[in-house]
Amino acid sequence: MRCRLVAGNWKMHGSLAANQALLAALKARLRQVEGVSYAVCVPFPYLNQVSAALTGTPVAWGAQTLSEHDAGAYTGEVSGAMLREFGCRYVIVGHSERRSLFGETDQQVAAKFMAAQRCGLVPILCVGETLEQRERGDTQEVVGRQFETVLNAAGIAGFVSAALAYEPVWAIGTGKTATPAQVQEVHAFLRALAAKRDQGIAQELSVLYGGSVKPGNAKELFAMADVDGGLIGGASLVADDFVAICEAASR
Ligand code: 13P
Repeated sequence: MRCRLVAGNWKMHGSLAANQALLAALKARLRQVEGVSYAVCVPFPYLNQVSAALTGTPVAWGAQTLSEHDAGAYTGEVSGAMLREFGCRYVIVGHSERRSLFGETDQQVAAKFMAAQRCGLVPILCVGETLEQRERGDTQEVVGRQFETVLNAAGIAGFVSAALAYEPVWAIGTGKTATPAQVQEVHAFLRALAAKRDQGIAQELSVLYGGSVKPGNAKELFAMADVDGGLIGGASLVADDFVAICEAASR
């Protein structure tokens, strides 16, 4: 059976004091459940705080991006090896905010995916279409291209230790969630693309949904056949909400 993963993406939110309260609540309330993993992906400066708070708990942690380079004169960048030194298990790559606000290209996302794997990090590769692209009927073409660029670069074997996250841009931070049927359709399409290369790896690949997941809609989204958890933005900053979403992932 595929592993489920619920990962929080804190984005550029938090403070030492606010994080402390949130992390204490996660530590107190989240229990290990067979077949389900939890993580929080936090801003770089908080990795030390998060590792101190979560070591020995069922909650792993990670970052929200990394450099495609291993080391060198890249002012302001953070390497995968540095993330590993702070105990990161995961790193998000290709989030739509990185693509749209910071100009990350499909090729660069693929390079980041491979940089993460060189360091033993588990990349969570995000794909997703804008509202305009969906309305034009281009959803499959867009998410297919985003996924295939990484498949072509890393090979299907790169997805033995990686997760995929479908995050429709129009559902991120808007309170407008994709319907379970819309999500299932795209997830099945993505899994089928992987299956063309390797049926076994495709069946084991965790495909997460992200975009306005809340305690009130998590259960029905996670009930879909090809939905293996979620990438949670706003609700991951509220302990009650994140705990409820994590609990919704247990079968
Ligand atoms: P929201 O859950 O706030 O819509 O954000 C989703 C997201 O971008 C997670 O990466």
